[in-house]
Amino acid sequence: MSLTIPMTRTLLGMAAGLALSAGPLTAQAQSDEDVKMGFIVKKPEQAWFINEQEAATALGEEKGFEVVRLSGEDGQEVLSAIDNLNSQGAEGFVICPPDVRLGPAIMNRAKQYGMKVVTVDDRFLNSDGEPMEDVPHLGMSGYKIGEQVGNAIAEEMDNRGWDPDEVAALRITNYELPTAKERTDGATAALLESGFKKDNIFDAPQQNTDTSSAFSAASPVFSKRGDFEHWVIYALNEESVLGGVRASEQYGLDPDQVIGVGINGSGAAFAEFSRETPTGFYGTVAVSSTMHGRQSADNLYQWITEGEKPKANTETAGKLMTRENWEDVREELGL
Ligand code: GLA
Repeated sequence: MSLTIPMTRTLLGMAAGLALSAGPLTAQAQSDEDVKMGFIVKKPEQAWFINEQEAATALGEEKGFEVVRLSGEDGQEVLSAIDNLNSQGAEGFVICPPDVRLGPAIMNRAKQYGMKVVTVDDRFLNSDGEPMEDVPHLGMSGYKIGEQVGNAIAEEMDNRGWDPDEVAALRITNYELPTAKERTDGATAALLESGFKKDNIFDAPQQNTDTSSAFSAASPVFSKRGDFEHWVIYALNEESVLGGVRASEQYGLDPDQVIGVGINGSGAAFAEFSRETPTGFYGTVAVSSTMHGRQSADNLYQWITEGEKPKANTETAGKLMTRENWEDVREELGL
């Protein structure tokens, strides 16, 4: 296989210098124009990822660099995206990978092209299943945000006067993805702490991180446990909790029998809160996807232009959003 190595920044800088003496551009504008980066996401149709990519693009427009938005729904698509970026002269990319175990393969390809890589949301694992510490990462603090989910559920159970002994939990899990496990583990810990019964927690392992995989995982759990009248639902994100809520509706549960709390605070939640009548989707812990998109792109930009490698791991926090306050929280987080 023959590889085309993109012009290095030094060469591009020299070219910019030549252009400078001949044209009216300022040095700042000229050097910024040289920077092009990719932003590859595993689920390009999900509101969370659309917002991240848009926020990165907007930052690029402010600062004068170009962001190429790409989809990487499987390993093959990610590798083609990297080839594509290389042929466009990109110097690096931000990525939320479709599978964290693809980390070493993705890094190999990036290294062949001399590209810098930062991950967002889902952190690469090495072949031993450990986080790839040398790839800078920005993601949410999964366990803490999970605890917020558990606490929100416990509080709402209390408001509704439910007897904890008679409530079942639908825990939609994805143990392939470490941040997902941290989130559901945090929620479980907080629930147990509040007095929830461990034996009343039922697992629905999902194959993916979206609504339809959660719906398929959840449906059989409701059918099997028809003896419970009250349910709480949690998962790694709101898309999955929505899958659980839709399954509860299909099974015949009313909204006042269900407390679903998600994570993200993106368009999927806004649409649900905007419905005329409440559903079993009680709330979601919102994290700023705008900040995730901007910050990860900015970190990469600084690295490319100043040679400053971003820190190994940045953890972000969240805020509970419900039907009552969602518009305010949305504004506060710049969503
Ligand atoms: C994972 C989930 C997304 C979103 C991000 C946020 O990638 O699949 O829905 O929650 O984490 O970090």
